Amino acid sequence: MQGPLQYELHTVESIKSTNTALKELARNGAPEGYVLVALTQTNGRGRMNRVFYSPKGTGLYCSVLFRPSIPIPAYVLTCMSAVAAAETIESFDIPCKIKWVNDVYVRNKKAVGILTEGAFAPDGSFVYAVVGIGVNLFPPADGFPESISDTATAVFEQKQDESLRKLFLKRLLQRMKHYYEMLPETPFIDAYREKQMIVGKPILFSDMEGMNRGTAIGIDDSFRLLVKTSDGTVHAVDRGDVTIL
Ligand code: BTN
Repeated sequence: MQGPLQYELHTVESIKSTNTALKELARNGAPEGYVLVALTQTNGRGRMNRVFYSPKGTGLYCSVLFRPSIPIPAYVLTCMSAVAAAETIESFDIPCKIKWVNDVYVRNKKAVGILTEGAFAPDGSFVYAVVGIGVNLFPPADGFPESISDTATAVFEQKQDESLRKLFLKRLLQRMKHYYEMLPETPFIDAYREKQMIVGKPILFSDMEGMNRGTAIGIDDSFRLLVKTSDGTVHAVDRGDVTIL
């Protein structure tokens, strides 16, 4: 089992990317539990080199440093954080769903993205892991940029007081700590399965051969997405992006 996780909270006004900065701090010996929060990011990053829109006053942009004492695959931390984020949203009585692997959707649009990065020892275990979480809390005053306006939303439909960002962060960190300290047990896999928005739906996914179509039928015990293609083959997908058709 992991030892207890103690947080050390650091907030900065503006930064390129909390993930980039925290990786640098990790290389220089920052302790497990170091949390870096930025009020805005000038180069917020998502998976596959995408930009994560991070304006001031409407979102929560944070990265958490883990130094697991036991071998933990990166996807476990990502899925753990997705469940923690979903449960935090639900604690405000707002329904949400998880879109495999790392996004949380509210009212059918993306409200949260998670980016796990880190450094690995030769045996494949983490030297450190940085889990970056971006939450669109409130709608930006001028709306989301056109490139994401069809797909992005905010957790809360109206702009609210700054204290809500702090409360959201507090609950999120509590949920992450709760699950992290249970590793290598992953009881959150039930919630991860139950909250999936794509299971049962036709999807486009990428595998070794390129893009493929199939129906998402479930999540296996390694958090991989199971997809059945028209020839009856079941693919266990562990990377890439999926699109609901
Ligand atoms: C995704 O949508 O693919 C993941 C988005 C992750 C965004 C967060 S915001 C805090 C942290 N810093 C970054 O540059 N990215 C993550």
